[in-house]
Amino acid sequence: MSVLVSGGCGYIGSHTVIELANKNYDIVIIDNLSNSSKGVIDRINKVTGKNVTVYYIDLLDKQSIEYVFSKHQIEYVFHFAGFKAVGESVENPLNYYRNNLLSSINLIETMERYNVYNLVFSSSAAVYGMPESLPIEEAEFTKALNPYGKTKEMIEEILNDLSNSNARWKIISLRYFNPVGAHPSGYLGEKSNGIPNNLMPYICKVASGQLTELKIYGDDYPTVDGTGVRDYIHVVDLAKGHVNAMEYLGFIKGAEVFNLGTGTGYSVLEIVKTFQKATGKEIPYKIVGRRPGDASSSYADPTKAHDKLKWKAEKGLYDMCKDAWKWERNNEIKKKLIN
Ligand code: WQD
Repeated sequence: MSVLVSGGCGYIGSHTVIELANKNYDIVIIDNLSNSSKGVIDRINKVTGKNVTVYYIDLLDKQSIEYVFSKHQIEYVFHFAGFKAVGESVENPLNYYRNNLLSSINLIETMERYNVYNLVFSSSAAVYGMPESLPIEEAEFTKALNPYGKTKEMIEEILNDLSNSNARWKIISLRYFNPVGAHPSGYLGEKSNGIPNNLMPYICKVASGQLTELKIYGDDYPTVDGTGVRDYIHVVDLAKGHVNAMEYLGFIKGAEVFNLGTGTGYSVLEIVKTFQKATGKEIPYKIVGRRPGDASSSYADPTKAHDKLKWKAEKGLYDMCKDAWKWERNNEIKKKLIN
């Protein structure tokens, strides 16, 4: 029996593949490489010492999904594949709705056709929008603020309705807070071409000299030092949470959601200070105006995942910064070798 991973060449997907391989699961990846490259497969095989099966297909092509299901005895499915850039989703909402919703429906319909009912879905804390209370619990009302977050919210709703229509479905949606860092080997990490939107990859580009300074979006929030507070979680901790979720599916009925966060919030300035300490790199910065749509603070109540999934984030901010920087440096060396 195999585990199918859609988007297995992506940032969270590839790290989850590593953790699945470490537990000797047989893995089948499907990925259209829209936000990754074939080199990721080589590096997954290098880190795991295994040869994962991969199909370079698009979930919008339903026949190609059918082909994969006809070739493999799939028992579990992880669904990571989807567009995930908040700013891009605001500019091209239809692109996001078509891609993220239709690809999910194609995958789910094919699962049903082949009697596969075990699904872990990659959702996001973006579904909470502006949090009403902190720390954020799963019971918090969801009200995503941007099309990207709304696609996650809609897919969770589709999965809810699906599980109500057929009791055979066992579905877990995982709401990630702020994934950062990279595999300690330095072989896998977040793909970051161009100018990153997110804080940690941007800081890494400043540290490597590709960008001159960090712009900090506002220091007038009601937080410890006025800068935005978020719940940063190491991508390896996040990946382990996925495996625990898959192994918990047998104990649930219908669809459940879990927050995957550390439960601790750090401000932008605290990230900068820790990054400088972990890497010895100076991060010049300038305080500018707030970024529209930003919440002041957002961090998880991870109790439900602790209690039910027997999962807890173990890596601290220092490791997140150190591993992010190691990946950035390796990437820079690789690019120099290629060019
Ligand atoms: C973090 C903090 C910024 C960049 C996003 C998505 C969310 C999820 C995680 C997918 C904020 C500040 C940032 C910069 C800054 N992705 N910042 N200067 O916005 O919390 O969440 O990534 O699921 O859906 O919305 O993450 O890293 O962009 O921002 O000051 O150049 O850093 O204001 O306080 P965010 P982020």
